[in-house]
Amino acid sequence: VASAALVEQVRALFGPKMDAVERELVAHLDQCPQHLRDHARGVLRRGGKRLRPILHLLCADLLGYKGDRDVLYATVFEYVHVASLLHDDVIDEADTRRGSPSLNRQLGNTLSVLVGDYLCVKALSLAALAGDLDITAVVSKTTIDLVEGESLQELQSGRLDVTPDEALRVIELKTGRLMAAACETAAMLAGEPEGSPHREKLREFGLQLGLAFQLVDDVLDFSSDAETLGKPVLSDLRGGKLTLPAIHARERGGPEALRILTTVIEDGDFSRVSASEVLALVTDSGGLAAAQAMARTAAARARAALVGLPPGQSLDALAVATEYAVTRKF
Ligand code: FPP
Ligand code: MG
Repeated sequence: VASAALVEQVRALFGPKMDAVERELVAHLDQCPQHLRDHARGVLRRGGKRLRPILHLLCADLLGYKGDRDVLYATVFEYVHVASLLHDDVIDEADTRRGSPSLNRQLGNTLSVLVGDYLCVKALSLAALAGDLDITAVVSKTTIDLVEGESLQELQSGRLDVTPDEALRVIELKTGRLMAAACETAAMLAGEPEGSPHREKLREFGLQLGLAFQLVDDVLDFSSDAETLGKPVLSDLRGGKLTLPAIHARERGGPEALRILTTVIEDGDFSRVSASEVLALVTDSGGLAAAQAMARTAAARARAALVGLPPGQSLDALAVATEYAVTRKF
């Protein structure tokens, strides 16, 4: 419901701008080598929630920005996001994304990585050519944060003793920082200098929204189904990743929890421990509820960061986004 409300609200406020973003997502690939271009466009056409573009447009409007550079930066953030998913699907050996075979399954790892490389570098060059060095610096730094987050996650892979703080650090770097940057750069576009309260609030809003979003992602990986998600479930644990629901289960579930988690991580499948046993473990130990509660806390912090920003439809839509982050089903 919140998702539909958010999309409707943004459509009503920014229909033409969102259409312009869709056009630019396609148009900036004109110079892309043809054998990569069709695949890049195919991946972009397959959709996604366009959450980062939406956040950027809303935040720019909120602070009274009247130009059209927001459309360009919205495109930049979507390119970085999609590039990171292409690389992530190679790293995770994923078979599906957004309900279709993932690009790595269609094209193989090599070309899929290269399409991701192209989109990522294209994003940074678009930002650079737009001419605002400070915004380019934020976009570049954030892209490095994604690399740091994903690599930290890789180093944690297979470990049963990952702490909640370690998991939260990965979540902040791989998801929180990009949403923070989408919001903060909108404030910069609107002329807010470093340290200005509006700019700080929007960065904090984006960061907390991103944390809420990823925490729910980690819950849905256990609690949803493949059809709804458009990607397989229980893939984190199978891939050796202990996310917060599993960490909580390990902390609260006693020796039996440790046995179940160790077995699945060793096997990389559900041959000795069934998927339903794992689901029962994270449910009965309160792991899912705990992660969902952490998501609600982050969403509440995001809403708190909005206090003191100019009231209006954009602010209302940002508040709806915090509802959406914690109630979404896919
Ligand atoms: C999805 O997480 C992955 C990310 C949010 C970030 C991935 C980042 C990189 C691969 C490094 C940076 C690369 C570039 C090109 C900037 P997930 O696996 O939890 O979500 P999923 O279930 O949707 O796959
Ligand atoms: Mg993944």
